Amino acid sequence: VTALAVRTVAPVNRSIDIRPRALPVIAAPMYGVSGLALVVACCNAGIVGTLPASNALRADELADWLRTIRDEAGDAAWGVNLVMHSSNARRDVEVELAVRFEAPIVISSLGAPDRLIDAVHAYGGKVFADVATVAHARRAAERGADGLVLIGAGSGGHTGHLSPLGFVPAVREFYDGIVVAGGAIGCGAAVRAVEVLGATFAYVGSAFIATHESLASDAYRAAVVAASADDVVCTRALTGIAANMLRPSIEEAGINLSAREPPRTVDAYATINGRRVWHDIYSAGHGVGHSKEVRSVSQVVATLTREYERAFSREASHPSLALSASSTRS
Ligand SMILES: Cc1cc2nc3c(=O)[nH]c(=O)nc-3n(C[C@H](O)[C@H](O)[C@H](O)COP(=O)(O)O)c2cc1C
Repeated sequence: VTALAVRTVAPVNRSIDIRPRALPVIAAPMYGVSGLALVVACCNAGIVGTLPASNALRADELADWLRTIRDEAGDAAWGVNLVMHSSNARRDVEVELAVRFEAPIVISSLGAPDRLIDAVHAYGGKVFADVATVAHARRAAERGADGLVLIGAGSGGHTGHLSPLGFVPAVREFYDGIVVAGGAIGCGAAVRAVEVLGATFAYVGSAFIATHESLASDAYRAAVVAASADDVVCTRALTGIAANMLRPSIEEAGINLSAREPPRTVDAYATINGRRVWHDIYSAGHGVGHSKEVRSVSQVVATLTREYERAFSREASHPSLALSASSTRS
């Protein structure tokens, strides 16, 4: 009787397992790119799939997507990204839906994660906070985030300015929770590199734009396939926030960046010369050169996995290790 009584009154204390099966990679949420098909494909391929709630046009569509993802993902972890700033008119509905469909990971952007934490923890989910500076990371850690997503330099979309080489170790000095490193990670060796620096997961966005399952247009996919890192330009002149964009699409829109003042107020979804930023003026990070053709998500994940495994064997037999061994002997 006592055991039964204890079981009945004990608080729910489960924690959803978010470990990926194939690779320590979270497919990062991307406006205009990550939808239902991409998330499900990522989960099936053994990585964590995520989407920004803003990609669903209406709340009922978001509810349908989250229900389907929950049903199709099985045991695989997935996540939804919510803009927590008060400017997001749908914020409370999006929080309610993330909780109703028990998103294993809820990623908060542009705003404190506090108001999410109790509700998400109640069903065993985890709250990650997007951060772009060390001070911001410290604040989010103090507020109880389960994970920090470090948006580093070279990221697609609105970018951070700190190199992951400095950012990850700086955060690791005071934070022993889950660290997700983002920015320019387009190959498996880069996934391994951020792991070596102390990250738990790599946050990989642009590598999933040129996939069959993404929401990107054919023209956007083709622009990504054609681009190299040299085509990426970081500018505040389009939305008012630093973003990494593909220079050819800016030129195509007739925009002269050097003559253009950044807008006085932020407009994340600006239209310039009749071209919509993100839809007609394209974004990608410094890892873009790895997308050489349009492929399926499972092919991208298989390549990342192969490269990741090769990075381990390279670490074991790296010439510089041989060099230090011989210099030790001499
Ligand atoms: C086209 C595009 C749209 C993006 N939209 C969002 C978004 O809606 N919310 C968000 O938190 N991050 C967004 N990001 C940033 C990604 O989540 C991630 O931080 C970034 O893609 C990682 O860098 P990488 O592209 O070099 O891999 C976007 C990135 C791209 C390329």
